[in-house]
Amino acid sequence: IAPIFIIEGENIKNPILSMPGVFQWSLDRVHEEINNLLAVGVSRIILFGIPESKDNKASDAYKDSGIIQNAVSKLRLEFPELFIITDLCFCEYMDHGHCGVIDKEELDNDATLLLLRKQALSHVQAGAHMVAPSGMIDGMVGEIRTCLDENGFASIPIMSYAVKYASSFYAPFRDAASSVPQFGDRKSYQMDCGNIREALKEVELDVLEGADIVMVKPALSYLDVINEIKKIVHVPVACYNVSGEYSMIQAAANNGWIEHDNVMMEMLLSMKRAGADIIVTYFAIQASTIIKQNNGI
Ligand code: PBG
Repeated sequence: IAPIFIIEGENIKNPILSMPGVFQWSLDRVHEEINNLLAVGVSRIILFGIPESKDNKASDAYKDSGIIQNAVSKLRLEFPELFIITDLCFCEYMDHGHCGVIDKEELDNDATLLLLRKQALSHVQAGAHMVAPSGMIDGMVGEIRTCLDENGFASIPIMSYAVKYASSFYAPFRDAASSVPQFGDRKSYQMDCGNIREALKEVELDVLEGADIVMVKPALSYLDVINEIKKIVHVPVACYNVSGEYSMIQAAANNGWIEHDNVMMEMLLSMKRAGADIIVTYFAIQASTIIKQNNGI
């Protein structure tokens, strides 16, 4: 699965400095990226939006003409072969950069669930094939499942970011999505990096609530977590090869310190070996190109 950043505006292909080779795209140009993906056989994308304005209710996240809603309906028409996943979170849409509603500097879990319902429904009404809640809000999968079922979208699957650690590997992404928290950190809702038992609990809860795919994030430093989860669940396991993991390879390779393609493939292979059925990665084009060549396609 290839992540794509969509930004409001026209004629934009904005390089993300901390992620060489990754861009923010305006809707009138994103077909350039999608054509490159399709050319190497990658038809699954996950969309992240950078809205025009942010506020303390994340209004742009669930309005009908929001950046993601527009992107989904346009891409559905233009590229019928795409499978479009949308990330459900509020950090890009909140002026404070946190993943939900903030009350007295604390995340209000249940108020955030109400907004998540609206966001999920608006994405699916626009045509999203699958939604991926990434905020680590307690009860998010159950709430979204109920909402989609009530509104005639019982067959839309949910890929839950079930296990998301409070990781320092997300730093380049926060540049890309301009979602740096303006105060505090995300440790009250994201997981403690030293804890694996809680990961198993989070996954079990999400599966009970109706998750169709569970995801571990980040991937590289959490291969043991992927492996344990693969043993206990009977839904597909995904992992997110996050921005910091991508940028480390780009930086070292650009300096000539490592050989890019071999290290990239070794890293992705380790995720498969650990048990990932699905990998979300900024290397989608490069890795698929190599896989195709190796298979003589
Ligand atoms: C939250 C979200 C994040 C990422 C994906 N979804 C950022 C965060 O939790 O701070 C990180 C992905 C990456 O680092 O590549 N909307």
